[in-house]
Amino acid sequence: MTAKQFTLDNVLPDYPTFDEGIRRAPDRGFCLTPAQTRVALQNALRYIPTELHAQLAPEFLEELKTRGKIYGYRFRPQGNLKAGPIDSYKGKCLEGKAMQVMIHNNLAHEVALYPYELVTYGETGQVCQNWMQYRLLIKYLEELTQDQTLVVESGHPLGLFASNPRAPRVILTNSMMIGIYDNIKDWEVAAQMGVANYGQMTAGGWMYIGPQGVVHGTFNTILNAGRQQLHIPAGANLGGYLFVSSGLGGMSGAQPKAAKIAGAASITAEVDSSRIQTRHEQGWVDVVAETPAEAVRLAQEAQKKKEALSVAYHGNIVDLLHYCLKENVHIDLLSDQTSCHVAYEGGYCPVQLTFEERTRLLAEDREQFNRLVDEGLRIHFQAVKDLVARGTYFFDYGNAFMKACFDAGVQEISRNGVDDKDGFIWPSYVEDIMGPELFDYGYGPFRWVCLSHKHEDLLKTDKAAMECIDPNRREQDRDNYNWIRDAEKNQMVVGTEARILYQDAEGRLKIALKFNDMVRKGEIGPVMLGRDHHDVSGTDSPFRETANIKDGSNVMADMAVQCFAGNCARGMSLVALHNGGGVGIGKAINGGFGMVLDGSERVDEILKDAMTWDVMGGVARRSWARNKNAMSTAQEFNQTHAQGYHITIPYLVDDALLDEVLK
Ligand SMILES: NC(=O)c1ccc[n+]([C@@H]2O[C@H](COP(=O)([O-])OP(=O)(O)OC[C@H]3O[C@@H](n4cnc5c(N)ncnc54)[C@H](O)[C@@H]3O)[C@@H](O)[C@H]2O)c1
Repeated sequence: MTAKQFTLDNVLPDYPTFDEGIRRAPDRGFCLTPAQTRVALQNALRYIPTELHAQLAPEFLEELKTRGKIYGYRFRPQGNLKAGPIDSYKGKCLEGKAMQVMIHNNLAHEVALYPYELVTYGETGQVCQNWMQYRLLIKYLEELTQDQTLVVESGHPLGLFASNPRAPRVILTNSMMIGIYDNIKDWEVAAQMGVANYGQMTAGGWMYIGPQGVVHGTFNTILNAGRQQLHIPAGANLGGYLFVSSGLGGMSGAQPKAAKIAGAASITAEVDSSRIQTRHEQGWVDVVAETPAEAVRLAQEAQKKKEALSVAYHGNIVDLLHYCLKENVHIDLLSDQTSCHVAYEGGYCPVQLTFEERTRLLAEDREQFNRLVDEGLRIHFQAVKDLVARGTYFFDYGNAFMKACFDAGVQEISRNGVDDKDGFIWPSYVEDIMGPELFDYGYGPFRWVCLSHKHEDLLKTDKAAMECIDPNRREQDRDNYNWIRDAEKNQMVVGTEARILYQDAEGRLKIALKFNDMVRKGEIGPVMLGRDHHDVSGTDSPFRETANIKDGSNVMADMAVQCFAGNCARGMSLVALHNGGGVGIGKAINGGFGMVLDGSERVDEILKDAMTWDVMGGVARRSWARNKNAMSTAQEFNQTHAQGYHITIPYLVDDALLDEVLK
């Protein structure tokens, strides 16, 4: 028997046309030496049958020099690659077809930030590096069986390897760099050479579900910020208060929607008019203002009537903040969601440049661009500082804004005045809000995709999930219950039929088993379960997910790696581990999973082991770091799960004793 070949066809596809109006990734410059350029071409051409090399070598060189990367545009299938029903995909196992649905959902025009460059969100977060990899991935997924595992390294499908039905069907990693090269400069060289993919979190983990994924987390954060800082009583909303932020991109675009659901008046600044248009057409932005004065007037009118209103300001966030300072406009809650994790790659538009100037300078003069980014961030910092002095509550919303200010030379933003090891002077939302209120209890961004593509399946799963939640157990459960009750009304689906719902370990498992039972009984089609990597256990990131870890282990990535390894061992369908994520290369290790519910008992068994591990591994680490709520959650877990589990609980030392010893 001859072995099956997994190669691209030796017929050259026509060069594709690019639809007008679809955003394109900016050229970030070309930085390779002649020797590296040669290797980059060898690397890209190894996907291509030899007889096509003469034609493709110059084409790939042109892409590298003009776009800073070889995307292999010629191999992109024409049109909008949106996800279809699972039955419309070819495959030898359900998981192989399900992964194709997920990949397509990450690349659909209405979902992806730069669909032609395989960028799903976060400026540079890609499904894989190039269209040759995409084609090969699809071929492999069509052939994958339940006795094989597909290994994917930075978007490259390394091959199919024999395993068993209880093993993962896909194990993927992105940009796991060796320590001394784990920095943005070396990463850029590796990416241009075609060996590193920036997976962000769910982009390279194929689990993105559009901005809905982050709406729930943003809603939780804004509402809890209001409860903590503005003393909003439980059950009340943010009517009458003003929330200001920036960014209407892939994830940041969730802010106006979340603020509106929380009842606030909000202004979101955005420099790129096309992104404003997307959110406006989608109904997530109510009105668009071209000047700060107009934006503030509209928001204040809504505040007076205690009405929720989302205003987009077309311009730079710093101009808006300067206006508020000059006109004494009180901002209750302030944040930022520009892509500061890739500030120098175009993620942050400095106030001295228009959006168009930023795009031109990025391609033509990176050094000057970098200088302006640094200066712009310093101006931005000063504006936030002045507003905080007037009573505004500012929080870093996980885009590495404070780290970027520090790197731009703002020494005073560092808590210890020297480095970033002790964090920054203002809270990250995880330090004050999401860490203690959610992650330490195990609550995180659980999600699912109805692979049948049927809206009625989503409605059935919403109802079933709601029935699994006891709203009277904790305030968080009440919030989650209300969230899922109103999910359909809030019209959050962009792309395929998916839902986000924050849940703790117990809730996630209950819902997962319930859904698998519904699949078994034929009440719904198969379901893909997953979560954002931005979760209790999946991510070690001192500037974000683990910002409230204070025992010194915030510099360690053991938890994220253990979470990944544990999910592999327990047989999740897809398991992912990445470097970078929302805060940038070298600043985080993050991982996630996908689990295909096919109604089988095999899946029930995997869920029981893996879902509990996926959450409780992180709660255990947070408890060991002496986080109060995590300690009580771990202690309770030890009582309720004595069969098979035990978490090590720390002893707490008396401060007075240490004061005495350290005198
Ligand atoms: N905390 C979280 O849960 C969370 C979740 C998702 C994303 N993030 C982080 O938030 C950031 C944004 O993510 P995204 O997916 O929306 O990225 P994105 O690149 O799609 O969007 C960022 C937007 O900011 C705009 N922008 C840049 N500079 C600006 C400025 N000075 N003024 C006004 N607008 C400006 C850009 O034009 C862009 O549209 C990333 O750093 C990401 O990692 C955090």
